[in-house]
Amino acid sequence: MARAAEAAEPRTRGGGYFADGGGRHLLGLQGMHPTRIEPFLDLAESYVLLNRSRKTQRDLLRGRTLINLFFEDSTRTRTSFELAGKRLGADVINMTVSSSSVNKGETLLDTAATLNAMRTDLLVVRHAQSGAPALLAQKVDASVINAGDGTHEHPTQALLDALTIRRRCGRLEGLTVAICGDVAHSRVARSNIHLLTAMGSQVRVVGPPTLMPAEVERLGVSVHHDMDRALEGVDVVMMLRLQRERMSGGLVPSAREYFRFFGLDTARLARAKPGALVMHPGPMNRGVEIDSQVADHPEQSVIQEQVEMGVAVRMAVLDRLSRANMV
Ligand code: NCD
Repeated sequence: MARAAEAAEPRTRGGGYFADGGGRHLLGLQGMHPTRIEPFLDLAESYVLLNRSRKTQRDLLRGRTLINLFFEDSTRTRTSFELAGKRLGADVINMTVSSSSVNKGETLLDTAATLNAMRTDLLVVRHAQSGAPALLAQKVDASVINAGDGTHEHPTQALLDALTIRRRCGRLEGLTVAICGDVAHSRVARSNIHLLTAMGSQVRVVGPPTLMPAEVERLGVSVHHDMDRALEGVDVVMMLRLQRERMSGGLVPSAREYFRFFGLDTARLARAKPGALVMHPGPMNRGVEIDSQVADHPEQSVIQEQVEMGVAVRMAVLDRLSRANMV
């Protein structure tokens, strides 16, 4: 962290809360500064404790409206934003829009006008196109939170992953994290790379060449195609879903072949550090990228903990953005 903290604080890149300090939106983590991340994770930690004590803090967002605007499917992310909003006292409305039925550009701008007319305070957006939340942020009065845009970013997922790792390992700096599988199509991978490298973790990306984004090493990661070797000595193994819905051609062989080379099973996990954490953002394809024995490992799998941290992190995001919006 010291290394990254010495760098000049970027003020404009990324456009998210963490990048511009007083920002109203959380659009991505690229360019955010580590000195903003630690206090944010501390705040999220306080929400973990609040949630476990079964108390709520219903006053913070009382009278505010949060709209969950999802142009793509979601279970975990939408539900946890809904819970987070309700636990803070907001009125929460879920809008699920089919992006295939209408011209996307027009829909977004029409939707922005509608949301402004409804006096929405907080807008959580998921969209198949990278940049859609940023476009909406220019057109709406509400604070916009990116809940996943195309292959671009999924900032709250990376924040909840960071909180999960920090609680288990006590730190992020100096850890080695392997992000494995379909990196090319993964907004989760991108946000995690931005956050983890900024916090001083070493990141290895692992997968077949067909599922690696071009020039990914420019993001400060090392690239690996041999899963067994790549997992040697890592502290955290983060598995990614094979996102077939974003693939245009045959980028991978059969599911069975894929599992043979890039699936995480007990034998492969044994190459990581003893007690290494196993993570997955969900939804999992059991038997394709991860074996059930590993996914359900009682000590090493923190997949359910990630879901718990998701609610706390989203409460912390709503907390911060609603305060930014008040001034
Ligand atoms: C991820 C997403 O939608 O980007 N899931 C999630 O938010 N929990 C990853 C995925 O869909 O594979």
